[in-house]
Amino acid sequence: MMLLSIENIEDRLRSRFRQQVVDQGINDAVKFLQQWSYLSSQVTRLHGAALARINVPDIQYLLAEIAYGECGSGNKDKIHSKLLTNLINQSPFAYSITQELDTYFVDVFEETVVELSQMSQDEAIGFIVGLEAPAYQILQLLREALLGVGISYIDVLNSEYFVIHNAVEKEHQESGHEAMEIIMNSGFELSKIHKGGDQAINFLIKMIGDA
Ligand SMILES: [Fe+2]
Repeated sequence: MMLLSIENIEDRLRSRFRQQVVDQGINDAVKFLQQWSYLSSQVTRLHGAALARINVPDIQYLLAEIAYGECGSGNKDKIHSKLLTNLINQSPFAYSITQELDTYFVDVFEETVVELSQMSQDEAIGFIVGLEAPAYQILQLLREALLGVGISYIDVLNSEYFVIHNAVEKEHQESGHEAMEIIMNSGFELSKIHKGGDQAINFLIKMIGDA
């Protein structure tokens, strides 16, 4: 009778992301990288805003773990956005990519942090699940964009950023998954988790969907 399951949530979110972002492809690799590197440099604020809503210690742990990983797992040279910058600096277009972003994206991000910090616990965890669900799809888009700005396939794949992310995104998804199981075992509402997940996908579409 229950058609909506944990797997369904993630599959549904991935399929929305595929239809609205992946299938459109990247028109402007410079713009895509500019937007993604901004998001990468700010993303732990989303984990922090979600964490502020969570009163279940096991879920607090999972969110802190994801944020800690993004922040380099105890080594500030390994902060993910720094690793991405190192990679982008290998491109002849690095100067354009690292230009300041249109305020539209900054505004969307800031509004999202405020919204997230006011969500219910179920919605907030749904948002993080939605943020992590398309991680592999995003990694593929990112690879395409990096090749598009003149970085070689070998340099992309052997970069610290890609080596870490191929290993780490799986863990992030498992963390999101585990959090949902805890939430649902605690009797939270599946519909709110869906709602939060959809908000995350809408956010990603605004932040990187038009590039
Ligand atoms: Fe990362």
